[in-house]
Amino acid sequence: MHFKLEATDLQSSARAATITTDHGIIETPIFMPVGTVGTVKGVHQRELREDINPDIILGNTYHLYLRPQTPVLEKAGGLHKFMNWDRNILTDSGGYQVYSLSANRKIKEEGVKFKSHIDGSYHVFTPENVMEIQRTIGADIIMAFDECTPYPCEYNYAKRSMHMTHRWLDRCIKHLEKTPLKYDYGQTFFPIVQGSTYKDLRRQSAEYIASVGAEGNAIGGLSVGEPADEMYEMTAVVTEILPKEKPRYLMGVGTPVNILENIALGIDMFDCVMPTRNGRNGMLFTSEGIINIKNKKWEADLSVIDPMGITWVDTEYSKAYLRHLFTVNEMLGRQIATIHNLGFYLWLVREARKHILAGDFTEWKNGMVKKLDQRL
Ligand code: GUN
Repeated sequence: MHFKLEATDLQSSARAATITTDHGIIETPIFMPVGTVGTVKGVHQRELREDINPDIILGNTYHLYLRPQTPVLEKAGGLHKFMNWDRNILTDSGGYQVYSLSANRKIKEEGVKFKSHIDGSYHVFTPENVMEIQRTIGADIIMAFDECTPYPCEYNYAKRSMHMTHRWLDRCIKHLEKTPLKYDYGQTFFPIVQGSTYKDLRRQSAEYIASVGAEGNAIGGLSVGEPADEMYEMTAVVTEILPKEKPRYLMGVGTPVNILENIALGIDMFDCVMPTRNGRNGMLFTSEGIINIKNKKWEADLSVIDPMGITWVDTEYSKAYLRHLFTVNEMLGRQIATIHNLGFYLWLVREARKHILAGDFTEWKNGMVKKLDQRL
């Protein structure tokens, strides 16, 4: 993997860069659509490539390990081939899903024993087996196995958990060194900063994570219910410490405004279920503000979904038609909303990149932030 810094904003810490892997170039800042279980829900690969056009998408170790399971992925030659996606993929380690989805999990130094949310069967994730699973899934960027602490989190728990995440990181690195690549392209490993909402812990964690010298670094444990200002404070503390010459990935964030504010703090990569999940529930992020398309207000509004027209669905369907599809529970409604929202998120980060390169990011960002939170 190669990271090239192209421009840094003068009034903020925003940066524009490129990340090059064996599956192509990722222009940053980037938003990675979430493809949890080998599909970006509701969007087929042709639409994803041609209409939304992200350089990278996300997959989840937890879900892919449970279904279709690693032997099938190995037989297919990895997730890229299995799902017909020849651009970049990043897999999360399961360090978040284990805590958010499975019941009866038991966290120990050795690893996490958890109960599948699908059939109730018991499984164990350790730093070692999660590295092997990610080798088999075959994403371009793979993540350390960590514990994502909840919010709020008591100081002593956050501290103990952070130290365990650091020890797990050492085990991940050691095990990766002796686990060969499965396919004919490289994989890059990113460690994850934790430390809840405590500045001293965040500093300590960022210093530890920076010290292992990985090719890129991530920040976890945020966007778990804390106020936005607290999230920004933590990002700012951590980006001060993480090396400038390596990509920084803020996991699971967030709203369009969260993304712009964190770009200003020096984040390069984002992922979030919000555009896809909220889209399936009828929430649209548009150039004019946020729309709940299920609202009666749109019943006879024949204006287009978004006059800015980022993706073709924006100008080929009316608000009234899309509302109708949601009212009668047709799957096309969820598909249109998903394409629109992902198109919007990708547009937003591409615009941010353009303005960083042009040197007027901060002014543009401040104007956008005022508009994006408006509810129509
Ligand atoms: N996704 C969102 N937050 C986190 C986190 O803290 N850890 C991991 N592994 N994934 C995440």
